[in-house]
Amino acid sequence: MEISVTRAGSLKPHPDESQLGFGLFFTDHMFNMDYHPDRGWHHPRIEPYRPLAMDPAMMVLHYGQSVYDGHKAYRTPTGAIQLFRPRDHIARINRSAPRLAIPLVDEALLLAGLKQLIALEKDWVPSAPDTSLYIRPNVIATDCCLGVRASHTYRLYIILSPVGPYFPEGFEPAKIWVSTEYVRAFPGGLGAAKTPANYAASLLAGEDARRAGYSQVLWLDGTERRYPEEVGAMNICFVMDGELITPPLAGSVLPGITRDSVLILARSWGMPCAERRVSMEELLKANREGRLQEVFGCGTAAVISPVGTLKYRDEDIRVADGKVGPVAAKLYHALTDIQYGRATDPFGWMEPVDA
Ligand code: PLP
Ligand code: COI
Repeated sequence: MEISVTRAGSLKPHPDESQLGFGLFFTDHMFNMDYHPDRGWHHPRIEPYRPLAMDPAMMVLHYGQSVYDGHKAYRTPTGAIQLFRPRDHIARINRSAPRLAIPLVDEALLLAGLKQLIALEKDWVPSAPDTSLYIRPNVIATDCCLGVRASHTYRLYIILSPVGPYFPEGFEPAKIWVSTEYVRAFPGGLGAAKTPANYAASLLAGEDARRAGYSQVLWLDGTERRYPEEVGAMNICFVMDGELITPPLAGSVLPGITRDSVLILARSWGMPCAERRVSMEELLKANREGRLQEVFGCGTAAVISPVGTLKYRDEDIRVADGKVGPVAAKLYHALTDIQYGRATDPFGWMEPVDA
């Protein structure tokens, strides 16, 4: 299918690369494509970035039928542009979509559209340290109907945002609030899908945590509220007795591409790794006995984010002396060296954009 291109009449000024923050600036163009039951996905096109014309009755606004993803393009030392595991991110849209009764997308077409969009926007890929071009594909239900059912029509769009680090504290160990009051996901729910409802469910706890001086929320399982599952925008990893442990993908946790990359890297170094549930009691006991060596989160936006404090019930639990641990540091450097093209990529994760 041919992807048509309409260029913007005027281009925006570029922001200062040292002041990007996360997700605040958007490039000049976007990718759009529509779905109709008679035509399937059709009319792929690159157009000027602009507001969507939305009927107030559009179903996504009422019932939240939507899936999205998030990945990044990086500038290498030679000035080239490369994507980190784009096929896995696009494939995840197709794992999220069925849970929301959204039709599957053509993965090859989406990758081609993405690469063409990034080639057009190549000057927006920043080169300052720790910056990248964040890619946000989004699929929304576009029928105008107040009846509760799956939409028949959809819009898929991709927008691009030059970003700096997600957390202002950077690589400093974060303070995290373990939510015992609210639940993000539960067996049979939406937790494994990247869909706005999961984030909506997390906002109140996130605000409570921020007001109390914590940067994020660690969610426990929705049934027993004993087992850590993931953090608001990242998967969680523990290093205990020399083993890297992360909760299993049992349906309520997002299958993070960074999580998978962390496991591949750590296993390639011969480090024992396990995907298993760890209860809060087991964690606290290991911490008291000095066996809980590190806690860190991992995700596209968060990269590798060390955790120095866990607030659980009324206690602030200091983990690993509140310092960045050696496993988190080694993973951070290994992962970002591959992403930014400073190291060879033995896993075939990076994909060039011909710009
Ligand atoms: N868990 C949640 C809830 C997320 O929002 C993210 C971010 O995308 C992740 C985990 C990490 O996933 P990934 O590494 O694919 O970005
Ligand atoms: C990501 O890491 O891509 C995320 O989606 C996290 C957050 C910005 C929602």
